[in-house]
Amino acid sequence: MSASVTVRVPAKVNVQLAVGAARSDGFHDLANVFLAVGLYDEVTVTPAEALRVTCSGPDAAQVPLDATNLAARAAIALAGRYGIAPDVHIHIDKDIPVAGGMAGGSADGAGALLACDALWSTGASRAELLAICAELGSDVPFSLVGGAALGVGRGERLTPLEVGGTFHWVFAVADGGLSTPAVYREFDRLTAGTHVPEPAASAVLLDALRTGDTTALAGALSNGLQPAALSLRPSLAGTLTTGTDAGALAALVSGSGPTTAFLTEDEASARKVADALLASGACRNARIASSPAPGATLR
Ligand code: C5P
Repeated sequence: MSASVTVRVPAKVNVQLAVGAARSDGFHDLANVFLAVGLYDEVTVTPAEALRVTCSGPDAAQVPLDATNLAARAAIALAGRYGIAPDVHIHIDKDIPVAGGMAGGSADGAGALLACDALWSTGASRAELLAICAELGSDVPFSLVGGAALGVGRGERLTPLEVGGTFHWVFAVADGGLSTPAVYREFDRLTAGTHVPEPAASAVLLDALRTGDTTALAGALSNGLQPAALSLRPSLAGTLTTGTDAGALAALVSGSGPTTAFLTEDEASARKVADALLASGACRNARIASSPAPGATLR
């Protein structure tokens, strides 16, 4: 058995997040177009006396290290299935913004799952790993797969999508997180008494991804959770305007927020937008990244 296994796993942005009405189980049906972006967490698992989680990186203090951490839950789920004791030290080297709507927690879940699977040589099939991911959370399967994909159901049933070019982004990291369940509850409150249409993927958006057309993608970006995120965090509206005023082709809240995403023409424009966002004081940090990025990968 090797001493340790490290997996690198990307963040995501939702280029389309169409949200349906609340289901009887409280979840919402989605048409969720995920795009993996090149900001990564690294998850390392090492045999240990007992399961424990540690974290390093600028946001490490905000990461829960108990059994609520998706990485710990992934190790427990896989070990349970194969009758293995989940005695591993999981170390997360965190570069993905925490509680930011970029699936950082989901990334750690997928990363730990793949790393433990390799450490323990379970022989689990890809389909089995994806099923465990779906149990862990709606966004976790995508973190394993990466690239671009359409997620339906809770967002966990994935169809891979073709991407015909490189897209350049800036991510403005806000102070403090936003709770995903709270944002969905606010969506329910804002849409109460209105007709919420069945979520459907936009053909124009899928075409823009396939052809690598940045301008077309900018025109097609949409996030059904954005009104709810802005309602809970009104200052984000100013952040979006700051980025578009500085030359971003389009701006939107990333997933449930509060990270905001800015699509730019090229890397030089991304740098200008990031500088303007930082200078405005509208965000704690501004990160530049391109997409698509590969899914969870053994180092
Ligand atoms: O699946 P996950 O644990 O990531 O979901 C977190 C929360 O986000 C859920 O408890 C639910 O409140 C909300 N959610 C939802 N509909 C989805 C995905 C998530 O309402 N499709």
